[in-house]
Amino acid sequence: MATTEVESARERVLPLLEPAARTQADALAADAPYLDLIEGGLESTGVTQDLMTTGFVPRIYERYWRPALGQLAKGVTGPGMAEEIRIARLLLGLAPGDGVLDIACGPGNFSRAFAAGVGDSGLVVGLDASETMLRRGAEELRASGLDNLFLVRGDATALPFVGHSFDGVCCFAALHLFDDPIAGLDEMTRVLTPGGRIALMTSVQRQLAPRGPLKPITERLGGMRVFGQGEIVDALRERGFDDVHQRLSGLVQFVGGRLAGGGE
Ligand SMILES: C[S@@+](CC[C@H](N)C(=O)[O-])C[C@H]1O[C@@H](n2cnc3c(N)ncnc32)[C@H](O)[C@@H]1O
Repeated sequence: MATTEVESARERVLPLLEPAARTQADALAADAPYLDLIEGGLESTGVTQDLMTTGFVPRIYERYWRPALGQLAKGVTGPGMAEEIRIARLLLGLAPGDGVLDIACGPGNFSRAFAAGVGDSGLVVGLDASETMLRRGAEELRASGLDNLFLVRGDATALPFVGHSFDGVCCFAALHLFDDPIAGLDEMTRVLTPGGRIALMTSVQRQLAPRGPLKPITERLGGMRVFGQGEIVDALRERGFDDVHQRLSGLVQFVGGRLAGGGE
């Protein structure tokens, strides 16, 4: 039987799964639009996270929601979406043949750009916890005709992949939503190959943002952590990343680094 394009990417993802996830995957339909490795749902971290699991937001996310709210967070002079994709690709140092994990991929707006960059010999996995985001992502993926991208439903803070599986890990606009962002960073580090690159875009504490006793209240209300200016950079260095770069833009930071090892 001829395999479909999605199945061929699926076959390349299966060996990267940890044994328990592999067993789960083997029990799922081979033609499912994404591999669902979460039983039930994740506990909500707040209103922002809840919006990502509605039917409505994923439909307007890529075209309207992310560009508009992203620009508000980055500031009027901050990078637009095309520039953000360029930043991510640069931080990841993408080359043909690379394996890339796009964590909290939403509808795959970045994953598809990475897939176009790594060529037929490369592989991109988009992972998200939201079924509605992934359903939308699967529609976009079908329309794109890309056959080197596969979508997985999983928890960013307990990744279903074996260690050292990816040359690049990206996590844009999501780390601040995780229940345990530090566990998320540990997991990203674990699945990277030595010498692999990380690209993050997340919140950062700036002058106008609430501080002191107001900070935990606003964070809880919005379900979004606001990281201190050196917090993510320090966390990456502590985990063995070097060549760590940070760029601030409005209320967000872009951070990239290279995991030590693996030669030049
Ligand atoms: C604002 S979207 C970011 C999408 C895309 N990366 C971008 O930059 O446009 C945040 C995504 O994080 C996902 N998410 C939040 N917590 C997660 C977790 N623990 N595991 C996996 N995905 C998670 C949400 O479902 C949502 O799709």
